[in-house]
Amino acid sequence: MKAVVDRKKLFNPLGSDTLEARRIIKGDSTNIFNLNNVKYQWANSLYRVMMGNFWIPEKIDLTSDKNDYVNLTDEERDAYDGILSFLIFLDSIQTNNVPNVSDHITAPEVNLILSIQTYQEAIHSQSYQYIIESILPKEKRNLIYDKWRDDKVLFERNKYIAEIYQEFIDKPSDKTFARVLIADYLLEAIYFYNGFNFFYLLASRNKMMGTSDIIRLINRDELSHVVLFQHTMKEILNENPGFFDEEEICSLFREAVEQEINWTNHIIGNRVLGITTETTEAYTKWLANERLRSLGMKPIYEGFNRNPYKHLDRFADTEGEGHVKANFFEGSVTSYNMSSSVDGWDEL
Ligand SMILES: [Fe+2]
Ligand SMILES: [Fe+2]
Repeated sequence: MKAVVDRKKLFNPLGSDTLEARRIIKGDSTNIFNLNNVKYQWANSLYRVMMGNFWIPEKIDLTSDKNDYVNLTDEERDAYDGILSFLIFLDSIQTNNVPNVSDHITAPEVNLILSIQTYQEAIHSQSYQYIIESILPKEKRNLIYDKWRDDKVLFERNKYIAEIYQEFIDKPSDKTFARVLIADYLLEAIYFYNGFNFFYLLASRNKMMGTSDIIRLINRDELSHVVLFQHTMKEILNENPGFFDEEEICSLFREAVEQEINWTNHIIGNRVLGITTETTEAYTKWLANERLRSLGMKPIYEGFNRNPYKHLDRFADTEGEGHVKANFFEGSVTSYNMSSSVDGWDEL
């Protein structure tokens, strides 16, 4: 068996493409995309869902958002700008880092969907450019991109994520790779969502409706990334018992939740109608419990069983026909009932 530290070869003529030999990490495939011969069927289903989600930011009209923006309260505007700054960082680092993860995944069907994820993260990055250019006054635009330079809380958060990713590149090992996958899962599954809810809250008051439309599409993509990492982690654990240390997962979850709450209090606090430090804590801990459950683990926050933003679900509306369902991450991928999905490539 290969070690995870071995970056997969671009072409590995002596490898084996049989399903018996295939492993999600540490495998020895030729790295030819023979997609008639797929071991991880969930990856095929997910490919269909992700491709079906394709969207273009410019198709969403942001004209009325420009007027809404100047009529936001100062606190709402600060939150809007700050959340955008953090989202820009998250999508930048994912666009850069997902290929590093893929270099160590040895199942072509999974490499394929990681490529789709990378391109989706690139679309997200570009959508922020479109939002900023359409809505924000010229003198403010670079401030959004550069906010981490002056905002210590934002800088520390960004640095923390980047260091976990960088550690694997600098010192590749099973342990550092496991940490990257957990951090990826936390980023996709926890970090975005207090920010998303802020935009849905504005939409519930008929404000910044175009921005919310874009956020909803990003949200839909992110949920497919949550599922991607969930399945990848479960398969790795299945094939490599003991690869993940449950204690480490819990401690990284705790750190992520603490940072998410601190950041949200820093950027929103009790200053925006509909969000309080209590709802932020309740939401983040509830979400972490849900995400742990989806990994087959026990929740770590006792008593946090309720989503305080349930009333915003209809503004999130990622459940439209043909869309990723909001509870997508709770089911098995094969159960997704997509009119456009197919069970096998033979049906195409
Ligand atoms: Fe993204
Ligand atoms: Fe993502």
